[in-house]
Amino acid sequence: MLKILLIGKSGRVDCIADALYRSPREKQIFSLSEVNNPGLIEKSAEDIAIGKTDDIEFVLNYARKVKPDFAVIGPEEPLEVGVVDALIDQLGIPCVGPRKTLARLESSKSFTRHLLEKYSIPGNPAYKEFKNLDGIKEYITELGEFVVKPDGLTGGKGVKVFGEHLMSIDDGLQYCAEILSDGNSVVIEEKLVGEEFSLQAFCDGKHVVNTIPIQDHKRAYNGDTGPNTGGMGTYSCEDHLLPFLSAEYVKEASEINNAVANALREELKEDYKGIIYGGFMITKNGLRLIEYNARFGDPEVINLLPLLETDFISICEAIINGTLDQVPVSFRKKATVCKYIVPKGYPSNPEKDEYIIMDDVPPQSDNLRVFYGAVNQKPGGLQLIGSRAVACVGIGDTLKDAEQLAENAASNIKGPVRHRTDIGTEPLIQKRINHVRAILNTNNVAVG
Ligand code: AMP
Ligand code: GLY
Repeated sequence: MLKILLIGKSGRVDCIADALYRSPREKQIFSLSEVNNPGLIEKSAEDIAIGKTDDIEFVLNYARKVKPDFAVIGPEEPLEVGVVDALIDQLGIPCVGPRKTLARLESSKSFTRHLLEKYSIPGNPAYKEFKNLDGIKEYITELGEFVVKPDGLTGGKGVKVFGEHLMSIDDGLQYCAEILSDGNSVVIEEKLVGEEFSLQAFCDGKHVVNTIPIQDHKRAYNGDTGPNTGGMGTYSCEDHLLPFLSAEYVKEASEINNAVANALREELKEDYKGIIYGGFMITKNGLRLIEYNARFGDPEVINLLPLLETDFISICEAIINGTLDQVPVSFRKKATVCKYIVPKGYPSNPEKDEYIIMDDVPPQSDNLRVFYGAVNQKPGGLQLIGSRAVACVGIGDTLKDAEQLAENAASNIKGPVRHRTDIGTEPLIQKRINHVRAILNTNNVAVG
């Protein structure tokens, strides 16, 4: 009997649990989570260990008790503090998730920009790292349109973009001063304009298996309005491209992911074992890298793993053993649309502690999966915690079918919640296509 320790929170961890659970292998899943997630309760062999995923002692104590064959780490916080190093070095438990030094791919923006530069990997915008205010004013004046990034984990909320959050050079300088006074360095980049997509890859250190491109929607409200969030929903297409994205761009992004895995190995003399998530943008000057994450995206994983035809446990073992080249990884040729239900007021002032009712949500099937995120299973029902609560993913032959399945499920969740009704719909997809056409300034562009 295989024992797997799963560490995480949010809808991402329920989706990973589901992929492990679907494996035909004999296994037991042991979950460590910050909330009493009903999806994890259903799939775990015993009560969830409730605690902070980045509390190394807590993780080690639970791992000592469970004695898992391996661990899978969902979110970035435990990677950043070195939970993987502790599990491997102190208990000999192999992990799907990189060591702390390698996880800097996500936790340090400057590390990643310098890595691409040093190894001549294409994709960097113009950028500079600053440890104090000297020269910042000159650089942002030179760039004209700029982006300010604190050099640390920010949950996607620390990046400020000129024209959106920063309206002048003075705003930019003030924000840089704030970051520097916290003791962090700051990365200033050229502001890129274009369409974003992500490409997640499995990596065992030596081999990289790129998966399928997915597009997230960061803004809180329909029509890409409102504040940025962790991601309100995502879609992918049955041809494993996107309506605005040709195979050439996917190939280019895959090559950047591959080159980055090689560069990490060469730079740190250590194999990166886990997920490489590249966030890319198509711009008028070509493909650019926005960021790397050292874990699956949330919600991007929710589009990906339900399509996986290969046994996920075999993939985890291959990541650990360095044998990913021997596992044929395939995904169903279906379209997916994921919509996250969030508390009203999310992200700035979310409803908390209220209950949601899911009785009218259609039953789950191969075409509809529902994953639980920031909800607590309480005797009184499912209680909102304040963040993204439930992800509904429709899986269909076309985007239209997938969107309708997701929308039907999402709109049947009752309570003080809302979701974006436009994700995956034809008008929004057309807007993306038009945007890319305008950027590339051609009507003949080879869109996917
Ligand atoms: P990050 O924390 O690096 O993922 O950034 C969060 C978001 O900020 C990205 O998803 C982009 O929408 C935006 N962003 C980051 N870097 C840039 C850039 N150089 N130009 C324009 N937008 C950016
Ligand atoms: N959806 C973006 C992320 O997981 O960071």
